[in-house]
Amino acid sequence: MKPVKIGLLGLGTVGGGTATVLLRNAEEISRRVGCRIEIIHAAALGIDSQTILDPAKVTLCEDGNAVVTNPDVDIVVELIGGYTFAKDMVMKAIENGKHVVTANKALIAVHGSEIFKAAQEKGVVVAYEAAIAGGIPIVKAMREGLAANKIQWLAGIINGTGNFILTEMRDKGRDFADVLAEAQALGYAEADPTFDVEGIDAAHKLTILASLAFGIDLQFDKTFTEGISKITQDDVCYAEELGYRIKHLGIARRTEKGVEMRVHPTLIPEKRLIANVDGVMNAVLVQADAVGPTLYYGAGAGAEPTASAVVADIIDIARSMNVKAEDKVALLGYQPESIEDTPVLAQNEFETSYYLRMLAEDRPGVLADITRLFADKGISIEAVIQKEPQEGQTCVSLILLSSKVVEKNMDEALVQIEALDSIQGSVTKIRMEHLG
Ligand code: HSE
Repeated sequence: MKPVKIGLLGLGTVGGGTATVLLRNAEEISRRVGCRIEIIHAAALGIDSQTILDPAKVTLCEDGNAVVTNPDVDIVVELIGGYTFAKDMVMKAIENGKHVVTANKALIAVHGSEIFKAAQEKGVVVAYEAAIAGGIPIVKAMREGLAANKIQWLAGIINGTGNFILTEMRDKGRDFADVLAEAQALGYAEADPTFDVEGIDAAHKLTILASLAFGIDLQFDKTFTEGISKITQDDVCYAEELGYRIKHLGIARRTEKGVEMRVHPTLIPEKRLIANVDGVMNAVLVQADAVGPTLYYGAGAGAEPTASAVVADIIDIARSMNVKAEDKVALLGYQPESIEDTPVLAQNEFETSYYLRMLAEDRPGVLADITRLFADKGISIEAVIQKEPQEGQTCVSLILLSSKVVEKNMDEALVQIEALDSIQGSVTKIRMEHLG
């Protein structure tokens, strides 16, 4: 079989890792595929000074346009990142009849529908395994391994930087800013680290996971996003005292009213396997009707773990080069005409339990007032901790865990509680999931 020819866009962390893995494992890969996979053209700024590619075998240039229009290229691998130039390159590659492999979660979450439509019309594949949870083959698992199931919900730790920060805060009592700086130095954080700590990166990935799980359009703009920058050392410690850990989760759930898509800090029972996924590692827990829960764990970032997913996509495309487009696995795992227009629920319609922390005056009747206001909204309290007042203080920290409730009802109760004379400041609210 003649070799499959690759055009590579971007030679940063993931681009460099992809070139390394393709070169190092060339023999093993060709034993699997039945032909060689060769990088024949690569583009990156300042490419001459940074590449491990052999200029005798690979055309090196700075202009991506030359790669996506090269008639000899079969697969364009987009590892540039961002929405603008990367989108232009991907659309041009498709127009030129190239298959595309990308690690670009922002591009797929925001422009995926348009890109997939163009690819379907042209009969080419757009593969994006590396866009979610780095090296974990979660797209493969959901699109193929779980294809027999109706997926009910999934919950994932899908941002390594955020998980590293929360883990260090819990284990070492370290400061938020200090840990973030270390994650940046280690190369895990996004170019703009607010993407990590404010949950945007996780929301990109969650958007794609929800589409794969439920066969719905990619709708990044409807994914609720809350970051971890307001999580305090106190909350981490109180959660621990109550038998929970705080994780930054992406959650997608099918309900009778529609689909929930949300990224936020979440208390989860410490005995769950996923609660013990620490540091920069990622994990996705999928609850499906036939198989039950399955958990996928691995490195969510880094040069070679991400390259592992990129190269697996290249191999997948190479293996099915001669298969007609309509006979291949659909890009979202559902036939394009079967993608459903299921409503995506707004924040005030989410149903979950809560961890609540407030500063209350230490006098008789305060707790009774609070629980009465919760009871009026049908909210039951599952656990309470009251800390003794510090010397010279009249207020105490009250920590409550609630039953499952619609968010609108919880927010209405909290407005009334915050208005009580006995409550100081605002109530800290962190959602809680049992993942049972
Ligand atoms: N910034 C991302 C993370 C990189 O920390 O998980 C992988 O998408």
